Amino acid sequence: MMKRNFLKCQSLLVFVVAQVMFCTAQKKTVDQKADSVLQLMTLDEKIGQMNQYNGDWAATGPITKDGDKQSQIRNGRVGSMLNVTGTAHTRTLQEIAMQSRMKIPLLFGQDIIHGYRTIFPLPLAEAASWDLPAIEKSARIAATEASAAGVHWTFAPMVDIARDPRWGRVMEGAGEDTYLGSLIAAARVKGFQGKGLGNTDAVMACAKHFAAYGAAVGGRDYNSVDMSLRQLYEVYLPPFKAAADAGAATFMNSFNDLNGIPATANKLLQRYILKGQWNFKGFVVSDWGSVGEMINHGYAKNNYEAAMLAANAGSDMDMESRSYIKNLATLVKEGKVKMAVIDEAVKRILKKKFEMGLFDDPYKFCNETREKQQWDNADNINFSREIAKKSIVLLKNDAFRSAPGGDSGVLLPLSKQTKNIALIGPLVKAVRDNLGFWSYSWPDDTARIVTLWNGVQNKLSNTATMLYAKGCNINDTSKNGFEEAIAVAKQSDVVILSVGEAPDMTGEAKSRSNLHLPGVQEDLIKAIMATGKPVVVLISAGRPLVFNWIADNVPAVVYTWWLGTQAGNAIADVLFGDYNPSGRLPISFPRAEGQIPIYYNHYNTGRPARNDSDVYYVSAYTDMVNSPKFSFGYGLSYTQFKYSPVTLNKTTLHAGDKLEASVTITNTGNFDGEEIVQLYVRDVVGSVVRPVKELKGFQKIMLKKGESREVKFMLSVNDVKFYNDALKYDWEPGEFRIMIGPNAGNVQAKPVQWNR
Ligand code: BGC
Repeated sequence: MMKRNFLKCQSLLVFVVAQVMFCTAQKKTVDQKADSVLQLMTLDEKIGQMNQYNGDWAATGPITKDGDKQSQIRNGRVGSMLNVTGTAHTRTLQEIAMQSRMKIPLLFGQDIIHGYRTIFPLPLAEAASWDLPAIEKSARIAATEASAAGVHWTFAPMVDIARDPRWGRVMEGAGEDTYLGSLIAAARVKGFQGKGLGNTDAVMACAKHFAAYGAAVGGRDYNSVDMSLRQLYEVYLPPFKAAADAGAATFMNSFNDLNGIPATANKLLQRYILKGQWNFKGFVVSDWGSVGEMINHGYAKNNYEAAMLAANAGSDMDMESRSYIKNLATLVKEGKVKMAVIDEAVKRILKKKFEMGLFDDPYKFCNETREKQQWDNADNINFSREIAKKSIVLLKNDAFRSAPGGDSGVLLPLSKQTKNIALIGPLVKAVRDNLGFWSYSWPDDTARIVTLWNGVQNKLSNTATMLYAKGCNINDTSKNGFEEAIAVAKQSDVVILSVGEAPDMTGEAKSRSNLHLPGVQEDLIKAIMATGKPVVVLISAGRPLVFNWIADNVPAVVYTWWLGTQAGNAIADVLFGDYNPSGRLPISFPRAEGQIPIYYNHYNTGRPARNDSDVYYVSAYTDMVNSPKFSFGYGLSYTQFKYSPVTLNKTTLHAGDKLEASVTITNTGNFDGEEIVQLYVRDVVGSVVRPVKELKGFQKIMLKKGESREVKFMLSVNDVKFYNDALKYDWEPGEFRIMIGPNAGNVQAKPVQWNR
């Protein structure tokens, strides 16, 4: 009894001291504030801050799977929760945290990957817009909605470069290119963090997965990564650096091992590069269970060793593996993890909690009124349609002898006067599928999500007859529905065929070795094509698929990815010409899985093939051409753009000079439209070999029908730097090739000499 009273008095004293410190802390820097809290904490409380749990209970009471998490929060043993949303739920848990001795608020983290309530296109699809302000705005809206629902922290953006479409997580990033990927990484961080942490509509960003996860061997998820340091620095790290420079509050490490060392215990990545060279001030969270998974990697004997290796390597917070909470105290007592390591990690976490303003008001993000206002906000929904339109890529638009629309004889856009339109395919009336992987299910999804069917219906006057047949399932062997589909096609003036992957075929743990359209969908398309009707094929997927027959035989092909809440309206806008498609592929589309990895910025080799038919003792396949089916940067418009010859302000330059490359683009077609003018560079001879081309600039321009505009790019030696033999980032004088064109597979080149 005496002891209990003593303890009570002691905790009261600590509480009073803590409050005083918090109050005086108002005038202190965040650094000082974090220190003042840190010095009051016990070792167990510190370790608690480094522990993150998944929420597996209902707000009304505990449903514990592994001990009572609520009492662990009350005891200061939990620093953060993931997968807990809603103002009511987060408030309940925050109230429990406020019962802990130190009253340190919890951080609520969540995978807000491409929207919260309003879902936007998949990140890979958004990358196809090459529209940085739009991408930033999509993240901004996602943050506004999520923060209104109590979320403090998103586990996004994923900035992994992905050159392998077998890898299911290719959908989460910005594709294969380092330059485009870096710009998009920064845009997304800015979007999530808005005007800065501390604002109620800003969530902390988390650049993930650090690092090189996208290069998993064979495209198999969670697999090992083995790569040179040069490739790591040059191709895979820059988007992370861009995210850090844009102020990303946190980083997440990754499941893979990198050259034999799991990323979670990788000192080179976390201590040397991130916290050292880049001077990153935020904190690093592990990936889900990745600390414990080092046992399976064969890198740690048990969780005790795993905790030691991860903490010492700079992983500040353990997501769900429980290795820290169970072992760090012993490790500190045994001297295997220094107190300084714990203090550093905890301080990084506390600082973010201060910056978020949670010490001032732990319920800052629990405002029910704001939550209601952000629920089904009309502006957000409208923007979802905007960015969805921009993400669509027109891959083919050929003439069809009886095309009912298109004043240039090509099939698209369709005329709104078309009388009979057949919509055929397993995705025509699909609802939730439109959201794709990493999106939330809400009970009213069916009423909110605009299907393709609804989108087309919204577009047409009552005079059109819409016919429907499913034809087949996405991944099925049955052709029983073909007959009905053929009959429907025969009654129509034009057929819109909607096919693709199932939305859960891409995403985490969704690697595939076969990237062809699943099931009998291609057979369905062949059967419909045999009716002789004009056919438009829409392909929905989270990755590049292989669909050569379709690309070669169907007159119009549109890549529609997974476009989110407004998918159907956005597709109808494009199909019927209310929006002229402007998307360009952010990743190469292979002709066959055997070409993978396939990317435009490869080296030339000692025996480069001169063209696709050159196979005689050159670097080529004997049964398959080298080129992709669709190049990086490719995409069509309803109008045409003519490029003038490229002009350069100088052909011989010195180190301090600026190179100005110009080209005049003319809209020669019949529609106003947007073009993405792309600039690539090759360093012809280097002390290490250089890629055949690298994107170094692009401009998205809108040209009215008949309009011309000069587009100028400025380059300096900074744009041609690379990691040389000694891994020093520098440029080398010599010959360069400056290339401009509409995509990586179609450029005109001009040589320049750049001297010291
Ligand atoms: C994924 C992360 C994600 C985390 C939390 C992991 O499996 O790799 O990207 O943020 O789960 O959901």
